[in-house]
Amino acid sequence: LSPQLLKGKRVLLSAGPTREAIDAARFLSNPSSGKMGYALAAAARSLGAEVTLVSGPTALEAPYGVTRVDVVSAVQMHGEVMARASEVDVAMMVAAVADWRPSHPSDKKMPKGQMSPTLELERNPDILAELGERFGEGSETEEGARRPLVVGFAAESHDVIERARAKRARKGAHAIVANVIGGPASTFGAESATVHLLVGDEEPRTFSGTKPEVARALWEALARRLQS
Ligand code: C5P
Repeated sequence: LSPQLLKGKRVLLSAGPTREAIDAARFLSNPSSGKMGYALAAAARSLGAEVTLVSGPTALEAPYGVTRVDVVSAVQMHGEVMARASEVDVAMMVAAVADWRPSHPSDKKMPKGQMSPTLELERNPDILAELGERFGEGSETEEGARRPLVVGFAAESHDVIERARAKRARKGAHAIVANVIGGPASTFGAESATVHLLVGDEEPRTFSGTKPEVARALWEALARRLQS
């Protein structure tokens, strides 16, 4: 494997969870640790890419040489990703973005007694779907304009390949990486992962190992789609 497989390539990644404020002391979120996204950032950088990592709150340090942009909410992540997407060769969305946000967050802490037992929610922007629509399969871009390879992740608890395949098509991504959540093989927070890479209509390819090993294998598999 060439140590400079991604030399000259610009990589944009999202990673980690997002937090959706209810009030000054409470939020909605999920158990994403950010490890897979950070491992992909570190691996891309070590293969020679220029890497920007738009990260929700995690306990991790930015990998060496990677530009990290910190965000908290899905709306912030959406803004930071879209602002950079037309300048990169790959946009890989690994973040576990909260699908919903409270409609009326308070910037003060709400006293318990005043809180309603029901929360009104609204949909967050789907960053991957928007990238797919703008740059993905079937999108049209002006002559000479940069068009990143759009890659998504799919965390599924059952019918993993079928659901991931449908998700790739629905979101217009060029490729999707499916992983299993729930049960003993869950990847949420784990050190290792088994993933299935679906590129276009090609047969799925499966990679297993520590998250850094899987990250390197994924870049190796995707690199030939990036040679231009
Ligand atoms: O629809 P679902 O959340 O399962 O899709 C997962 C993929 O979509 C991941 O790549 C995730 O980063 C991306 N996503 C996103 N914005 C959202 C929801 C998901 O970019 N609001």
